[in-house]
Amino acid sequence: MITRTTNNRKAKEMQYNIALLPGDGVGPEVIAEGVKALKRIEVLTEVTFNLEYELVGGIAIDQVGTPLPKVALDLACKSDAVLFGAVGGPKWDNPLAPHRPEDAILGLRKALGLFANLRPVKVFPSLLNSSSLKPSVIEGVDILMIRELTGGLYFAKPKKRWQTSRGRRAVDTLRYTEGEIERVLRVGFELARGRRKKLTSVDKANVLESSRLWREIAIELSSQYPDVELEHMLVDSCAMALVRTPTRFDVLVAENMFGDILTDEAAILAGSLGMLPSSSLAGMPREDNRSRRRALGLYEPIHGSAPDIAGQGKANPIATILSVALMLRYSLGLSEAGSAIEAAVDQVLTQGYRTPDIAEAGASDVLSTSEMGQRIVDAIAL
Ligand code: IPM
Ligand code: MG
Repeated sequence: MITRTTNNRKAKEMQYNIALLPGDGVGPEVIAEGVKALKRIEVLTEVTFNLEYELVGGIAIDQVGTPLPKVALDLACKSDAVLFGAVGGPKWDNPLAPHRPEDAILGLRKALGLFANLRPVKVFPSLLNSSSLKPSVIEGVDILMIRELTGGLYFAKPKKRWQTSRGRRAVDTLRYTEGEIERVLRVGFELARGRRKKLTSVDKANVLESSRLWREIAIELSSQYPDVELEHMLVDSCAMALVRTPTRFDVLVAENMFGDILTDEAAILAGSLGMLPSSSLAGMPREDNRSRRRALGLYEPIHGSAPDIAGQGKANPIATILSVALMLRYSLGLSEAGSAIEAAVDQVLTQGYRTPDIAEAGASDVLSTSEMGQRIVDAIAL
């Protein structure tokens, strides 16, 4: 009897509510593969995932008239973690439209306070020849890119366009508070501590006042992290170094817009945008499972909706499956399950299976989205 009570309690504790927001384009296809991975983890462990879907993005504009319906936001808020697909497409691209699909992801980031965006860029040895860069340049790359996600040009006001007697004008504002800069840099220092202890703070301090504040705060904070080597790098120089000597980087931290651009560039190191997962967090990431109180996290592939290949089974599900691994690690305290998923991806790639985006010319084992997802899911062992 006592055993049963204990078991019941244990089973109950291991339930997690996951919000699934597939969105547009290839979003639904890749999310389906992420869900397969979650279901496999359920089978292999004591954990139960309660999965609930809601519409976001262009499809939500079409069906409900707004890109981020309240039900979707409410679902995200009450969940343990959110798995997000992608939003946008040519159908909703009118720059003068009152609603844009992108407002769904921007609204979620802001409403959930997801200020730290982690984009790990790791080169799988079996994909050394898939990048457009030389294998000798990318071999051994293991960078954790951290992008500030709720400030700067994306959100600060004034942000508008207007008509004057001398033509149209528009403004976006690059504003940061000390607090916003400090909290994201602190995530960088903390995570560098658990890695190779090197932090590159990216700015444009030779031109921008906001960057001079950013650099000042990085220097102040570094006195609390004497074990972490801090370097400052101008964003233009960083863009070059990322493709010239990418192995020199460990953890990199940048403001919102710089981070957006640099992370797309860095995806080329990993062979394809289809390989990069991401985690957007409202606080310091924690890997341990001692505490249930973890920062809410949203997990998404960084590749976007890729409307040109949507519905054709050509999308690479690996970025989404690796995002599920990050979710297990950072939001649910299930690091072992996360590592098992990453090992399965590595195994399937080593066996030579590819989706079109990472296949070399003439490759024979080119799989569809769902075939690749299934191969990986079948390889998950715990
Ligand atoms: C990203 C994307 C988004 C961004 C878009 C879809 C709004 O490019 O997550 O990197 O610019 O943040
Ligand atoms: Mg981007």
